[in-house]
Amino acid sequence: MDLIAMIKSKKAKVAVIGLGYVGLPLAVEYAKADFEVFGIDISKDKIATLKKGKTYIEDITDQDVAEVLGVGRFHPTCDYKELQKADAVIICVPTPLRKTMDPDVSFIVDASERIAENLKGPMLVVLESTTYPGTCDEVVQPILERGDRKIDRDFFLAFSPERIDPGNKRFYTKTIPKVIGGVTKKSTEAALSLYGNVIENVIPVSSARVAEMVKLLENTFRSVNIGLVNEIALMCDRMGLDVWEIIGAAATKPFGFMPFYPGPGLGGHCLPIDPIYLSWKAKIHGFEARFIDLAARVNSVMPKYVMNKTAKILNDHRKCMNGANILILGIAYKRDVSDVRESPAIDIIGLMKRMGAKISYHDPFVPRLNEEGDILHSVPLTKETLKRSDCVVIVTDHSSLDYPFVVEHASIVFDTRNALKKFGKRQNIVRL
Ligand SMILES: NC(=O)c1ccc[n+]([C@@H]2O[C@H](COP(=O)([O-])OP(=O)(O)OC[C@H]3O[C@@H](n4cnc5c(N)ncnc54)[C@H](O)[C@@H]3O)[C@@H](O)[C@H]2O)c1
Repeated sequence: MDLIAMIKSKKAKVAVIGLGYVGLPLAVEYAKADFEVFGIDISKDKIATLKKGKTYIEDITDQDVAEVLGVGRFHPTCDYKELQKADAVIICVPTPLRKTMDPDVSFIVDASERIAENLKGPMLVVLESTTYPGTCDEVVQPILERGDRKIDRDFFLAFSPERIDPGNKRFYTKTIPKVIGGVTKKSTEAALSLYGNVIENVIPVSSARVAEMVKLLENTFRSVNIGLVNEIALMCDRMGLDVWEIIGAAATKPFGFMPFYPGPGLGGHCLPIDPIYLSWKAKIHGFEARFIDLAARVNSVMPKYVMNKTAKILNDHRKCMNGANILILGIAYKRDVSDVRESPAIDIIGLMKRMGAKISYHDPFVPRLNEEGDILHSVPLTKETLKRSDCVVIVTDHSSLDYPFVVEHASIVFDTRNALKKFGKRQNIVRL
């Protein structure tokens, strides 16, 4: 039976490399769709947790993991040799930036090397990690073609951008349309058959490079628009205008306007990083990506703006940052997730601490934070905690937070997310 027929009949075995926010939901989805799945991760802790039938991300429940383990269709492992049993492999490893702000594709290289070492028969390899156009054919393909292996004979190679939005209950792995582009036509065809089994809507594009660029356009679009609205927020602050009221009114226009909202800064593994992958690649082509660089500059000043505005709020109450008790509400990079990667809260905490503030935080999703070597623990959200604070700063608007309780007991709340919209104008509320 050829590879595509095996995939279509679900006889193909699937391996997912990297079981994080992207890889774990995908592995579970394939196992639920009756595929036998090998989930490979270098983290022994993650594999041990999964083997116990437990999860470590919000979008997947213990029950999801236990169910696919129980029927013997999910095999979490640290052993790359399991790749020898796989017919299709999906790579979901991290793509961070180096300290020099260059793309770090070493995780992709490492995963590709392991695949090459264990590639037995015809195999479909799909890269899902967000990366610059050209990664599949410039980086992955040469590794897989070492020796006398050839694409379209010994393996197929495609890119499919991951669009998962952790914490989003409406759109999840199965219901988010999936763009797919192969390095070759046969690769596109093979990847379409793989994803067509578990994703409701698959969208073929003409090449892996196109698919790689699609993801970077999507995230650059968000980063630039957030940069624009952050700049408008800074402008409105100078002009004494309420930016939230303005965006709300502009959003009543039924065409030609899409609301984006200002905030304390960009966070997460995607928006602060992905556009930089694109501007780096553009530079190699002698092209300066001006919007990307400008948006990154505007977005990166937001934590400092939050710190300065908190200092001003304290000053208005005859207090100063040095020695003030500041309670940060929410430190995850966005609502209803536990991920603190690149979270603006971390920058804000660091800036305020350097000014002498005494910082505590409350986040129902993040019990513990390692802030530059200092271990902070989430404090309970009590009347005493709120009353003791000179200023409460809402950095992440988790939906489970008891906002009426906060407004009732805090002397002053600085709301960087418009979480207190329904409270209207109040003396103890200051908005971004
Ligand atoms: N998190 C998101 O919302 C999101 C959305 C779209 C795209 N992406 C992209 O998807 C990719 C993965 O992101 P993520 O958020 O899932 O990251 P993550 O850190 O949550 O997960 C990555 C996993 O890969 C494992 N890993 C690292 N190197 C490995 C290796 N050589 N072999 C096996 N496992 C390895 C890590 O232990 C970790 O469990 C990134 O490129 C990211 O930009 C993420």
